Amino acid sequence: MVTIVGIAGSLRRASYNLMLLRAAADVMPEGVSLDIASIRDIPLYDGDVEAELGIPSAVAELKDRIARADGLLLVTPEYNGSLPGVFKNAIDWLSRPGSDIPRVFGMKRVGLIGATPGPAGTRLSQTAWLPVLKTLGTDAWFGGRLQGARAGDVFDKDDKLVDERVRDQLRKFLAGFAEFVGR
Ligand code: FNR
Repeated sequence: MVTIVGIAGSLRRASYNLMLLRAAADVMPEGVSLDIASIRDIPLYDGDVEAELGIPSAVAELKDRIARADGLLLVTPEYNGSLPGVFKNAIDWLSRPGSDIPRVFGMKRVGLIGATPGPAGTRLSQTAWLPVLKTLGTDAWFGGRLQGARAGDVFDKDDKLVDERVRDQLRKFLAGFAEFVGR
């Protein structure tokens, strides 16, 4: 069984990125399990807290889940033409202490998708993640693309992905990514 941890980078209850991540679970190829993780319990990074109290339990727990998994799927919103601070904050905590980065992120097979109600998709946000993924030493996959424009039109009132074209795009992305992760 190939295991992938998926994280949506939004705290919003009606997050399109969380909807996209949940939709990913529905169209995962056979033999792949998607463990949906949340950043909700991760506090704001504070070096004093780290020095005095160590790594918060929610951070330590998620680090272990990522370390155990074969792959990591990041589902990113786009804020002001870049990545959202709340998501970057979570990844920053997960990268502490720096000596543990190789265990958690080193050569981790990472896929990146995102959703926005805007017309241009999450291209700028996904691009902004690249230096972060490089710094952490991940093995990022760029064999597919899903930029998730006009998200307001592709989910229904029950948060289900109802756009067949986007579902097909998601299925193709995940098939390629899962094949890469399982290699
Ligand atoms: C946005 N949004 C946005 N969308 C976009 O396509 N490009 C952008 O640059 C921005 N900038 C931006 C800045 C800030 C501060 C906010 C709060 C929002 C809109 C954003 O895509 C929208 O709020 C999404 O719904 C956020 O993702 P979730 O929460 O639905 O997953």
